Amino acid sequence: MTTTTAAPTGIMGRLKAETAEQHAIAEAKPLEAALVAGSIDHDQYKQYLGQRWLIHRELEAATDRVLGEDHRLSHLGLPGLYQTANIEADLGYLGVETSTIEPLKGAQNLVGTIQQAPSPAVLMGIYYVFEGSKNGARFIARALGKAWGKTDGEGMKYLDPHGEAQRGLWMKFREDMNAIDWSSEEQDTMVKAAQDTFDAISALDDEIHVA
Ligand code: HEM
Repeated sequence: MTTTTAAPTGIMGRLKAETAEQHAIAEAKPLEAALVAGSIDHDQYKQYLGQRWLIHRELEAATDRVLGEDHRLSHLGLPGLYQTANIEADLGYLGVETSTIEPLKGAQNLVGTIQQAPSPAVLMGIYYVFEGSKNGARFIARALGKAWGKTDGEGMKYLDPHGEAQRGLWMKFREDMNAIDWSSEEQDTMVKAAQDTFDAISALDDEIHVA
């Protein structure tokens, strides 16, 4: 007897299926485990946010540039999903001056990739990883809130930027991404960029939280 597995449809199906292995590795990193258990210490949390700030700042500047050049991306409403201002609010609340943040190697690598004027496909492969990560980050925000006895969400805007709107925004992102006529070459490029981004984030996690 043979069993067949339906091939995932659309670019979002491909991204999910072809980065599932990398997601499992990232999710199991000691830093992520400490985040989701609410046991991360404050200094590591500040470092985590600081490194993410360096990445999002660059990613969103690159996205602004690409939005001006490729009108296929305009329906995605990406500026409404940006995270730099949320991270800055969190860092401000935690008393971290952004001018003091030094990039670790993992962040430097990712920032370098983003700065090399990525094609829309590379950019959206990277973007997908961070946008998708908001799904799990809501659980982390809840765990940290519990552990730190906080209910106002201050210092956790990055982890839970949209509240109850998260699911709907993710579904819209999925639909809009699938509606774009990505060529098969662009799809392959995007999947590769997403896989590389997961690897970079896992490496960065290990720099922040040495196992
Ligand atoms: C404690 C760590 C993590 C947990 C518990 C977690 C959990 C989850 C959950 C529950 C989903 C939603 C699955 C669904 O509704 O279909 C998800 C999706 C996703 N997560 Fe994570 N995650 C974690 C870490 C990460 C990290 C570090 C990244 C990358 C920076 C990441 C990127 C993604 C992406 C891209 C998706 C979307 C998958 C799709 O295409 O549907 N996650 N995660």
